Amino acid sequence: MPLNDIAEKYGTPSYIYSRATLERHAKAYTESFNSMNGLVCFSVKALSNIAILRLLKNCGCGFDIVSGGELHRALLAGADPKKIIFSGVGKSEDEMSAGIKNEILSFNIESESELMKLERLAAEMGKIAPVAIRFNPGVDAGVHEFTKTGRKSDKFGVSVDKAMRLSAYCIESKSLNIVGLTCHIGSQITELEKFKEAARQSLKFLLDLEKLGVSLDFIDMGGGLGVTYLDEQTIQPNELIKCYEEIFNGRSERLIVEPGRSISANAGVMLTKVEYKKDSFLITDAAMNDLLRPALYQAKHDVWQVQNNSEDFQNYNVVGPICETGDFLAKEVKLSASEGDLLAIRTVGAYGFVMSSNYNSRMRSAEILVDKNEFNLIRRREDLSDLTMLEEGLLDD
Ligand code: LLP
Repeated sequence: MPLNDIAEKYGTPSYIYSRATLERHAKAYTESFNSMNGLVCFSVKALSNIAILRLLKNCGCGFDIVSGGELHRALLAGADPKKIIFSGVGKSEDEMSAGIKNEILSFNIESESELMKLERLAAEMGKIAPVAIRFNPGVDAGVHEFTKTGRKSDKFGVSVDKAMRLSAYCIESKSLNIVGLTCHIGSQITELEKFKEAARQSLKFLLDLEKLGVSLDFIDMGGGLGVTYLDEQTIQPNELIKCYEEIFNGRSERLIVEPGRSISANAGVMLTKVEYKKDSFLITDAAMNDLLRPALYQAKHDVWQVQNNSEDFQNYNVVGPICETGDFLAKEVKLSASEGDLLAIRTVGAYGFVMSSNYNSRMRSAEILVDKNEFNLIRRREDLSDLTMLEEGLLDD
């Protein structure tokens, strides 16, 4: 699909996703299970447009959610609540009540206080809440500091001892039902050994739980599989699932995984126009409010030129119009672009649009889904009235 055509119709900056790639990536997971009756819960935080969620639901995916807003999106997209896992360290009462009311598959619990709150709410509602305790396996995933979640010092999960006590507590509770165990060690992981270590610890935890008389429905290994941004060597979903199935060989529990990035990252590009050329800078109409990853994590995204009309390649810093030196999309990339040319920033289908904001009162970009030789708007570009729609206080003057 010529990106020029899309830019002509919907303008820039725009996020553009490929339906075929999303489906291929989802199937790379759903078709990998051999023995463990697997369930793939796409991590909604990576890409939450409801048209995309609907497409992934139709591939058989359930969803990993972390807020009432994500629950709302998943349900709007037609998700089966029995395929929804609610993760996150700070669920509010309203969010828990919504999950209980909709009879989701499990609350992945991250602290004792949270478990107590869930128990009280379920009792008040006359329901039994399904629970999996998230334990912290103490694995350093070897990724960016901000996306490690499995070390003892991280805010996620509870220690193995505590997880054991909380699981045992659930057996005695009239309002809680312990259905699984879960862990998630981080994101953009490229070493299989890290996943293996977490799985071995999960198995050990499972066997210890069994000694207490606890039997579970599922083992949820979280997400985290890394993708290729530039030249990273990655692991294929079937290799990951195979390694889990080997470690959990002979178990009757269901295996759940919660991939986000590895399904959507390489299914999306952000299209942006070069507004100005100044020295070694290409100043684009997209900025850090549209794609935060480079500014926040010094993440590197490959940049494609949509037109290739010059032989004059030069190293450029691709920067946005925001008034911050940290506002860049890519540094030191070889390009020959002229003013008015289009650039495609690659591998932005995960943690791209979802992390965008209105900083500098910039309007959020459009989202477009390419489907064979068609493309459809799945979120319109914000306009000036969207920017101020929720604000009040002008009438008094
Ligand atoms: N499950 C849980 C409990 C998670 O916290 C996450 C991601 C996932 C699954 C999905 O992980 P994935 O398969 O996408 O690696 N904004 C950062 C990434 C933050 C990841 C947060 N948790 C980035 O742009 O790199």
